[in-house]
Amino acid sequence: MAKLQYSYEELMAEAEFASRIHHGDELFHGGLDSDGGYVPPRSKHRLAAIDAWTKTLAAKGEPTTVMSVDQVWSDFFPNVEQTKILLRHGARDAMTRILTLIGITEGFGNTGMAALPVLEMQTYFKESIDGTCLAHLYKGMFEAHGNDEAGRGAEKGHEDMWYAIRDEALDNPPVTPDMYEDLPISPPPGYEGPAKPSPDAVGPAAVGVQLFEQLDPMIEIVLTAMAQILVIELQAYAAFAWAQEVLSDPACSSAPEFSTKTVDYIQTDENIHVGYLQCALAEARSMTMLGTSGEEVPGREVIDAICKKVIGVHTGDRLTRIRNFRMRQIENELESRADGSDVLAEFMAADTNAWAGEQAEA
Ligand SMILES: [Fe+2]
Ligand SMILES: [Fe+2]
Repeated sequence: MAKLQYSYEELMAEAEFASRIHHGDELFHGGLDSDGGYVPPRSKHRLAAIDAWTKTLAAKGEPTTVMSVDQVWSDFFPNVEQTKILLRHGARDAMTRILTLIGITEGFGNTGMAALPVLEMQTYFKESIDGTCLAHLYKGMFEAHGNDEAGRGAEKGHEDMWYAIRDEALDNPPVTPDMYEDLPISPPPGYEGPAKPSPDAVGPAAVGVQLFEQLDPMIEIVLTAMAQILVIELQAYAAFAWAQEVLSDPACSSAPEFSTKTVDYIQTDENIHVGYLQCALAEARSMTMLGTSGEEVPGREVIDAICKKVIGVHTGDRLTRIRNFRMRQIENELESRADGSDVLAEFMAADTNAWAGEQAEA
């Protein structure tokens, strides 16, 4: 039988690397095996553990996921062709902003994970959580996740990997303080960096009121945060695929090979995050939750309601606001150029997503 119990040290343990990945003076997390394949950070046991927990849940006939990419997917704006038009004309501001935003968001990882209340998970479930992913969240899973995003000690994580992609692909573009302002995602409590949210950014407040009065609000906060991070991780698939397609084009990127490879590494790590969040939330969904006075609440009701709420917050109007915000920035950049209106016309003609139609009708 597969191993289901892991210590903190095991879940944080590094696999063997044949070589490490350096970028200038920086050391990136993870490494390469002897064939040059990417080995994610802290993966000596972590991948096998997620796999074993997920298979155990599946063997009980339970679903192993709580939401799909389709439920949160949106066409990325600007689309690949539009972005390439901008870059071919030397208009790099929009791409610089988006890559900076991705880096900033990744950089919330450690603070975000540390901000989660530390709970004794077993107290919220009627069944034993022994040997589940839920039982290991505070035994390395959250911490490893935060480290993957924002780095650990001298080792750089996704935050700096994205900044490296930006700087290599776009030849060290100017990064201005306003790129850290008006962001669509709120920094987590305890964050002390320069990022500032827009008034309608999503964050803990946007997710709002408690759905289940029977439950300790703390467990609802943690499950909601996990579902929210899962949505962001799944939406990142769209952003990463977009970035890779644009930046692998030598006409648009000064570092097609470095960008492609580095986005690949990051995506490999993100699959781990999606995997354990799906598993832990699906485990909770399969169990009976206990309220503060011992009331039993089916985990299915709790998790389904939380996922529905969180997906609602992260899609629809929010995506339209982000698109409008980006459109204004692109117009601003092009306005300052002599050929701006021609580039804008070319850009608009390449808008193929459904949103373009809605805008035209409005
Ligand atoms: Fe990440
Ligand atoms: Fe992630």
